[in-house]
Amino acid sequence: MSVLSGKKILLGISGGIAAYKTASLVRLFIKAGAHVQVIMTPASKDFVTPLTLSTLSKNPVYSTFYNEDDDNEQWNNHVELGLWADLMLIAPATANTLSKMVNGNCDNLLIATYLSAKCPVYFAPAMDLDMYKHPSTIASFQTLKQFGNTIIPAESGELASGLSGEGRMAEPENIISFLENDLERQLPLKGKRILITAGPTYESIDPVRFIGNYSSGKMGFDIAESASKLGATVILISGPTHLNSQNSSINLIRVTSAQEMYDACQTHFKEVDVAICAAAVADYKPKTIASQKIKKSDSEFSIELEKTKDILVSLGQMKKNQFLIGFALETENEIENAKLKIQKKNLDLIVLNSLQDKGAGFATPTNKITFITKDFVVEPMPLKLKTEVADDIMNKVISHYEKNS
Ligand code: CTP
Repeated sequence: MSVLSGKKILLGISGGIAAYKTASLVRLFIKAGAHVQVIMTPASKDFVTPLTLSTLSKNPVYSTFYNEDDDNEQWNNHVELGLWADLMLIAPATANTLSKMVNGNCDNLLIATYLSAKCPVYFAPAMDLDMYKHPSTIASFQTLKQFGNTIIPAESGELASGLSGEGRMAEPENIISFLENDLERQLPLKGKRILITAGPTYESIDPVRFIGNYSSGKMGFDIAESASKLGATVILISGPTHLNSQNSSINLIRVTSAQEMYDACQTHFKEVDVAICAAAVADYKPKTIASQKIKKSDSEFSIELEKTKDILVSLGQMKKNQFLIGFALETENEIENAKLKIQKKNLDLIVLNSLQDKGAGFATPTNKITFITKDFVVEPMPLKLKTEVADDIMNKVISHYEKNS
């Protein structure tokens, strides 16, 4: 999945021939899953039509402070547009627009929005080769870099003037790659490896029966997605679940029993920076597994069970620098029991679920959790979607690294 997915992109188009390429650019943003709004300078409308861009972006296109045809004369709020965006891209950025950006010469909606935007701003210059090399243009680039804006350098090749050299706006595919690389580099968990356990475990009784539980695996899969969005590489060790992941930064390892989950965790724990055990691991398993289907005979039947290995305890013992997060599912004396688990399992943080809370626990899209740190700071959270809870958990991981950097 592209890092641009879900991002709100404000595309500012100024009046150069390269404006015709912005149709492809908008298309590529939409394909990457981004939301796009377009602002055009009046001159750019000679090179590409607002209708093309509004059709591709699925949004109205703005180019003036208010719409003359609109009887209500509502103004196009540049402050709102600037605040809406996660990222502003000015492409093509002509010498004229660059100079206006440098001087705050606010005579069109694009510059007014640029001055209002709080998000990161990128610009892709496009002009003839001598204009590109002119000291005035170079001075504009330097000043804009000082403002914190990022240049997407022009490429070399045939120019509209017939000359050949540097000045062509970067190709739309290259602009997208540039933005993706730059955004990925800045992700807060870039370079971090995270092990996550998810789902139930099945403990075999005989070839056709098992002891299991109602865990769907959703919480663990949502944590994996959230971690990957933040730049981490994820090893997701999951018990039997119908869930799947198409995400290439998530290495999904499927296991069945507690022993298999234990073995997979032992193999991978040494390689990771963070481990989050969200699986509902069976605490007991049948002492022996019948090799043939058990036939019904007596009116009563019992299975002798023995304890499984506690994966989290073993990780707590192996822990070096890893940040270790466990879950606790409780039905009574929740806080006290969770605190005991923090100590017993040598955790840095526990995520407590109480089955007494409505909307918490297995097979629901929501969860109601309480964070408890190893210093016993208790932080109850409101009822949220599991995807939001996953983001909250990952924010705790980010804060841990921010505090320790
Ligand atoms: N856990 C584990 N291996 C086990 C059992 C549990 O790794 N064999 C992990 C779970 O993934 C969870 C945490 O331990 O992160 C706590 O699980 P929970 O079921 O709440 O507690 P238990 O330790 O099993 O204790 P009890 O059932 O007695 O409350």
